[in-house]
Amino acid sequence: MSKTADDLSSLQPTQLHSQPKASKESSMGPVYAPIAAELKQVEKILQTELRSDTPFVDQLLEHSWLLGGKRIRPVFLLLSGSAVGDLTPAHFQLAAALEMIHTATLVHDDILDQADTRRHRPTANSIWGAKQSVLLGDYLFTHSFDVAAKGGSCEALQMLAQASNRVCEGEMRQNAWQGDFELSEQDYLRMITEKTAELCGVGCRIGALLSGASQDVIDQFEAYGRNLGVAFQIIDDVLDIVGQDDEMGKTLGTDLVNQKPTLPVIHCLENSTEDKRAELIKFLQNPGSTAQQLQAHLAKTDSLEYARLRARQHAQAAIDFASSLELSDYSRALICLADFVQQRSF
Ligand code: IPE
Ligand code: IPE
Ligand code: MG
Ligand code: MG
Repeated sequence: MSKTADDLSSLQPTQLHSQPKASKESSMGPVYAPIAAELKQVEKILQTELRSDTPFVDQLLEHSWLLGGKRIRPVFLLLSGSAVGDLTPAHFQLAAALEMIHTATLVHDDILDQADTRRHRPTANSIWGAKQSVLLGDYLFTHSFDVAAKGGSCEALQMLAQASNRVCEGEMRQNAWQGDFELSEQDYLRMITEKTAELCGVGCRIGALLSGASQDVIDQFEAYGRNLGVAFQIIDDVLDIVGQDDEMGKTLGTDLVNQKPTLPVIHCLENSTEDKRAELIKFLQNPGSTAQQLQAHLAKTDSLEYARLRARQHAQAAIDFASSLELSDYSRALICLADFVQQRSF
């Protein structure tokens, strides 16, 4: 049941803090370690910026910044910048802005997917309803550009704006393709490149730019981020079918419920006989179908393994680039990040 603005003041502030949780530290530890102090700076900016004098707005904002995500996009930006040269205050501003944009997309995505849980907590949509959540997402989007502008780089700001635009295009494309089981792998790749890989790529691009890298190096960092972004979303789509809600901290199975064709399903449809294909489409269109039943369909064509293989190929391209960099704590962390992306369970 959603709450109205009048009810908001009765809600208690959350106890959750925004730092990565212990379980995350185990596999993400080597990734966070070389930039731990810098990530704290980014958290500080988020805490300071996401406040309002209006109590119920403040409550919504607190919900959004206190949510402890993995902060992977700021990590992309800070590690890329550090691998190239020194970090500047602009890096921290842009990293915070990037995380705000990502959070805005999640707030909106949870309305579209009708998800109840995000980052181990009830979604804004499930607490306050779609109207407030649309506005919260808008607030995060618009405020992110103010935070980014304080970085003082017009070029970085424009990159961020363009990338955000493409994320929206990707989400619109996905929305339009709901229930379209004719979708090809190529279409799917284009869509996830827009909705997910853009923000990962632009994080690396901005990090390298602000540290003074040459155009060629900036492009290579962006390609690293994009490859990992694609791998990240493919694995996310696999985990939507086989993952654990409590470990992921978000509602899973929404791709099946919302008839979103993802890579395992596309591969299975493309590699089934006509009869089996018709059977699978009927199954996908049935609101009562479960993720466990879907796994049985996908097993016949090894489609989950295929999706993992495609993710590994993209992650390997990222590893190859990171391995070509001068050896440092940062280049090692970029390799660890690629390992995490393909092996993650949260
Ligand atoms: C979730 O991203 C949305 C996708 C692109 C799959 P993350 O898994 O990075 O979410 P948080 O920020 O850690 O919660
Ligand atoms: C990623 O897609 C959403 C955005 C890029 C906004 P998903 O719908 O798969 O993300 P989750 O699984 O809800 O985190
Ligand atoms: Mg979703
Ligand atoms: Mg997902």
